Amino acid sequence: MQSSQKNTLSDIYKKISSVVPEIEWKVHAPLIEKINKLKKDKNAVILAHNYQTPEIYHGVADISADSLALAVEASKTTADIIVLCGVHFMAETAKLMNPEKKVLIPDMSAGCSLASSITGEDVRMLKEKYPGVPVVSYVNTSAEVKAETDICCTSANAVKVVESLGVEKVIFLPDYYLANYVQKNTKVKIISWQGTCIVHEKFTAKEIEDIRKENPDIKIIAHPECPPDVISASDFAGSTSNMSEYVKKNQPKKVLLVTECTMSDNVQIENPNVKFIKPCNLCPYMNKITLQKIYDCLKNESNEIKISHNIAAMARKSVQRMTTIGR
Ligand code: 13P
Ligand code: SF4
Repeated sequence: MQSSQKNTLSDIYKKISSVVPEIEWKVHAPLIEKINKLKKDKNAVILAHNYQTPEIYHGVADISADSLALAVEASKTTADIIVLCGVHFMAETAKLMNPEKKVLIPDMSAGCSLASSITGEDVRMLKEKYPGVPVVSYVNTSAEVKAETDICCTSANAVKVVESLGVEKVIFLPDYYLANYVQKNTKVKIISWQGTCIVHEKFTAKEIEDIRKENPDIKIIAHPECPPDVISASDFAGSTSNMSEYVKKNQPKKVLLVTECTMSDNVQIENPNVKFIKPCNLCPYMNKITLQKIYDCLKNESNEIKISHNIAAMARKSVQRMTTIGR
């Protein structure tokens, strides 16, 4: 997790100049200045996911992190307004953790292929089919799905959450590949759903093996939303923050992060001695968030997340239960 220091504009540019060309910086700089001033005036906090672009991640975010840390940080903030730079389910989770606060998302249409792969009705149908089997849902789900869930998890704690239940069988949804990853690491029987992430499902083992052949000294680190043969072809698998901690700690000469490629820019800035190989798969939803949209939503306090009282009360329990388990 990264917390922003009170940097000047020139400090910020010095930091990101290796990945942001000067011509783009000229457009970003005035917006960064306006957003940072507005944040102070309105006592707002900006929470950003690790996939946000460097000018957001290093320029305006107070906290940048993986989904688990964003949920935890949302519950701790003393700000009046939270602007969640990430996708809709992350903003909904922040609202669940902090119902009294105003939670804004710069673009309401920033969705997620996993979250849209399953509805509350689907979960009710699964519970009928497997009576008494607890439901573990990835946080990449709507509040409606979380409301039907016993406990949430993220990629940082999925195995630990499943094992915390002390049962023989769980329904684990919606990510088919994450379910497969969990199944490889636990004796608990996993009943899965067919959701996939449109970014991670594109990676292939052949692509990974070819990169390793060309770069024999490389470390390859994959997100558990990748297909199983991609994870097997990698050296390590973990959540986005676990991936960046791995690089920070091990300082490999060369690295490939098998995940949304914007994150490589952010991690590269923090690890200037590591060479990054970057096959580029972008998340079209994460990329909807821009400085201009952040400025507009904070200025107008628009795009506020609202969750109906009944759904929120039930969904909150499954997220809170997860946060007591930790990483
Ligand atoms: P993390 O929880 O690892 O940050 O992942 C969230 C996500 O959406 C990955 O695609
Ligand atoms: Fe959803 Fe995949 Fe985008 Fe993450 S990268 S937000 S899982 S579509």
